[in-house]
Amino acid sequence: MVHADATNFSPNLTKPEAYQQLLDEVEGLCYEQRNWVCNLSNTSSLLWHLYRSLPSPSSSVNWAGFYVHDHTSPPTKPRLILGPFQGKVACQTINFGRGVCGTAAATQTTQLVPDVEQFPGHIACDSSSKSEIVVPIMVEGKGVVGIIDIDCTVENGFDHIDKEYLEKLADFLAKSSDWP
Ligand code: SME
Repeated sequence: MVHADATNFSPNLTKPEAYQQLLDEVEGLCYEQRNWVCNLSNTSSLLWHLYRSLPSPSSSVNWAGFYVHDHTSPPTKPRLILGPFQGKVACQTINFGRGVCGTAAATQTTQLVPDVEQFPGHIACDSSSKSEIVVPIMVEGKGVVGIIDIDCTVENGFDHIDKEYLEKLADFLAKSSDWP
């Protein structure tokens, strides 16, 4: 199998099956590779193609990627910085506590937002994004090293299945990569 074949998700898979395939492929790609840029770049590609293969609303995902803890930010005012992603150009930095991403980072909890208009302080990088899920990536002793952010152009784009599997993905990435 060549590397690009990993991005082929059969349209007949259920969402849990597609996520399981993604987890297996991420595990394969991270084998003997611990560089966070490399691992998050390939993972964004896999996420993008996974959502493309699924029925609506998942097929309406318009942004899939990562922000990482910016260690040039002062410890008293921590900030996220844009990491590898697929989709349109996005905000470069987000303070912990701001928007959906900053809230996930500050509270260390997944934010499942059915309607971004209802989320106080939501940062609109793209006005076509209507729902969002953000999952913190946490490493023991380091705290939040980054977040997974997925946006969708329709409301209610994500459910408990997305939460369950993206949290598994966050756990795996936390362990399998060396973080800045
Ligand atoms: N909407 C996010 C900002 C990041 S973009 O969606 C890529 C937020 O409110 O944190």
